[in-house]
Amino acid sequence: MDRRHFIQSCSASAACLSASAATPVFAANAAAKPYARVLLTDERGDPLKASRLAAQTNYVFHYPFEATPVFLLNLGKAVAGQSLATKTSDSYAWPGGVGAAKSIVAFSAICAHHLVYPTKDVSFISFRKGAALNAKTPSVGNDLIHCCADHSQYDPAQGAKVLAGPASQPLCAVLLEHNAKDDTLTAYATLGGELFDDFFKKYEAKLSIDVGSKAKQMVQARAAVRELEKFCRNPVKC
Ligand code: FES
Repeated sequence: MDRRHFIQSCSASAACLSASAATPVFAANAAAKPYARVLLTDERGDPLKASRLAAQTNYVFHYPFEATPVFLLNLGKAVAGQSLATKTSDSYAWPGGVGAAKSIVAFSAICAHHLVYPTKDVSFISFRKGAALNAKTPSVGNDLIHCCADHSQYDPAQGAKVLAGPASQPLCAVLLEHNAKDDTLTAYATLGGELFDDFFKKYEAKLSIDVGSKAKQMVQARAAVRELEKFCRNPVKC
């Protein structure tokens, strides 16, 4: 049984209760959308060790599609779950951080306003340690994901909830499973307001050049994690 069918059919059976030890518990109307189980790796293709993620540093991988970027962040502190809602008022229970310190989170790096996202050439959206420096639109807090396009600010410690700016919903969460035995991370689902259809529609021509025919292909098995500073030639800091 794949994960999608597992979640759809899982009731209070003994098997499900047992398996739920590694599975976050979602609210009744949650919108977790399972995709392929994908092991996160380093740039060489070796399994990434969660404990080696530098705190408050932007990392990027692609999931669930080859062209859709995700921010992976070790916030350096334990992060509790949070109740959130999409712009269509669908509520969901973001499960919080994973890893030994419950500090690791992941969110789609596609801004919920006008779909700005990090490319190899430039990134207008990123996590900012401390306060982002911007004379016109100051940070409303420290350690936020800031989109320089129109200054939406998201709090990754609150499930990427919108704290300021025109974005109408949190960044879509990417759910991770941490294997405590080998300290690896596996992405397995999204939770919240997906914007992938709009993203592919808006950037169809650009993605066909940048990523090619595999842009809409599902990532399978493994995804390489890179620091944003290495992935992107010009990470803009507003
Ligand atoms: S595209 Fe990010 S705030 Fe407008």
